[in-house]
Amino acid sequence: MLNQIKITSRINPFKKTIEVTSDKSLSIRAVLLASQAIGVSTISNILESEDVLSAIKSIKKLGIECKKVGNNYKILGYGLNGFNIKKKTTIYAGNSGTFARLILGLLVKIDKVVKVTGDKSLSKRDFSRITEPLKKFGTNIKSRSSSLPVEILGSEFLRPINYVEARGSAQCKSAVMLAAINTPGVTKIKAAKSRDHTERMFKHFKLPIKIQKRKKFDLIEVQGLKQFNAFDYIVPGDISSSAFFIVLTILSNNSSIRIKNININKSRIGIITILKKMNCNIFLKNKKIYKGEETADIIVKTSKNIRRINCPTILNSSAIDEFLVIWLIAAKARGISTFKNLGELNKKESPRLDIGVKFLKMLGVKVKRHKNDIRIYGNPNLKITKTLHIKNYLKDHRVFMMSCIAALSFIENGKVIIEDKDSINTSFPSFLKILKKLGAKIN
Ligand code: S3P
Repeated sequence: MLNQIKITSRINPFKKTIEVTSDKSLSIRAVLLASQAIGVSTISNILESEDVLSAIKSIKKLGIECKKVGNNYKILGYGLNGFNIKKKTTIYAGNSGTFARLILGLLVKIDKVVKVTGDKSLSKRDFSRITEPLKKFGTNIKSRSSSLPVEILGSEFLRPINYVEARGSAQCKSAVMLAAINTPGVTKIKAAKSRDHTERMFKHFKLPIKIQKRKKFDLIEVQGLKQFNAFDYIVPGDISSSAFFIVLTILSNNSSIRIKNININKSRIGIITILKKMNCNIFLKNKKIYKGEETADIIVKTSKNIRRINCPTILNSSAIDEFLVIWLIAAKARGISTFKNLGELNKKESPRLDIGVKFLKMLGVKVKRHKNDIRIYGNPNLKITKTLHIKNYLKDHRVFMMSCIAALSFIENGKVIIEDKDSINTSFPSFLKILKKLGAKIN
């Protein structure tokens, strides 16, 4: 069966309420923390995408019981390092950088070797950013290069570390925090701002953590070897999945959407801050706090007169997964927008900075790049009037979804063919179904 789709027309005006799938970062963290708690945790509304299912399959392989009962996952943890590992265990992280990096943090004390592997895209990504700090705890790590596969054998003689996380990577920060819970003493982290879900879960599930928030970084202290109890958790909707519908609505004629119950943690909503600065109509309603995380319904309306932006780099980490779609808005804005210091984008599921620039140029948008900075010359009359074929992007789910949004927003007498439809299973299996519910014609 063909694994491609074809879009030949813009979406018609729509006014709809939708729900998107649950948050990937929170789903993976809830599974991993439940594996270290004492007793049965119940996680509801988990994201059932390949990334999260890889996490569930893997912790089962590491000896943790995990059952689906109705809409809930029940995970029975035996406390810190409560794994039961067989000889020659290999776990497969699929496409998930978050799972692969965070699980390595949790494995610093295991008593048998575990090999961590991943798919083609994940096997190209840098793991030394995780393995270097983990080695400092005293754990044993072997890999032939700085990428996967990685073999880890824990140590009984772990020591806490002082770690500076300067990239603004939540994966690096969280891997070190998870290693710290199995290590005696206090691990100290100075971390550039990045999503803070792990910190919030630690606080809420009563793991000993102290946080001092400074303007540009956070100081985090984790006290190790303190057991914590199982918990119940309901995962809210994902802002990163919502992003595609936010942008589609802004760029469509006479349309509006309500996206229900989305996590609006401040460290994740860079897209909303950026698009509001660009004069887009986005509103948050029905705000609630649930277990340390804020949620809301996101309401978006068609936006005319989109303004250029000089995007403040302080927002980079809170919009890190959304730049590809944010650039579609910049492409339609009046004036030249600038985005700087985005080298980390080339470290994602595909080199998104390179691919994003190439994609915009294919659309006919003028883009200038200097190292990791780009300038996008917006064109309020942007239209696709030819055939575009989107392929060879390492099956990056976000490139596929961004391409669909570009096609549905800009086509006029043109056609867009996009390969690797099944990439959406990584994070958002129902993406195309929801687009069709809004009226999109997709073959
Ligand atoms: C994630 C952190 C980010 C993000 C990824 C999910 C997380 O990666 O891009 O999709 O859940 O911690 P980095 O930590 O590499 O920036």
